[in-house]
Amino acid sequence: MMKRLCVLISGSGSNLQALIDAIRAGAIAAEIVLVVSNRQTAYGLERAKQSSIPTLYFPFKKGQDRQQYDADLAEQIEGHQVDLVVLAGWMHILSPAFLDAFPQRVINLHPALPGMFSGTHAIERAYQAFQDGTITESGCMVHYAIPEVDMGAVITQATVPILPSDTLADFETRMHQTEHRILVAAVRQLVETSQP
Ligand code: GRF
Repeated sequence: MMKRLCVLISGSGSNLQALIDAIRAGAIAAEIVLVVSNRQTAYGLERAKQSSIPTLYFPFKKGQDRQQYDADLAEQIEGHQVDLVVLAGWMHILSPAFLDAFPQRVINLHPALPGMFSGTHAIERAYQAFQDGTITESGCMVHYAIPEVDMGAVITQATVPILPSDTLADFETRMHQTEHRILVAAVRQLVETSQP
């Protein structure tokens, strides 16, 4: 049974907060046993502390060997007997040195639809594409993390409309609200369907 979750963040942690709130409300039968951030100023660390969730600040230092960092990070997380690793606004590409430690047990939230706007600044890029007339809507998805960035098998996705009257902030707000909803749904689905 996937009961023990580890959430990796790099920023505000509003998606982490959505998971914390859903677990507290009894919507997900699991617990977040560790929150990891590679950025010391990530407000998500504060959110974890406010909910008495253990945190780990694990920075990637310039010039550090990436494989070693990824392997060390995996070892830290394995030490908490984690069943599922959730990348929620985690801004560091993870190599097989990390992913192979958790086969089919690392999922990632990405604010774009499958195959669209992989990588960083996806929200801004989609907004610009809408202004250019090349897309009529965008979306977000939760997928299994694989070495190819934002390209793993999709667990759940949702479209997010962009309105002509939208400012970038309007679209971002709608995107984040949708992210919170699909991330909770994806984690709940995996927890409920995992082997006892
Ligand atoms: C989300 O849009 C996430 O998909 C992207 O960065 C944002 C993180 O938001 N990678 P938060 O830190 O969960 O508030």
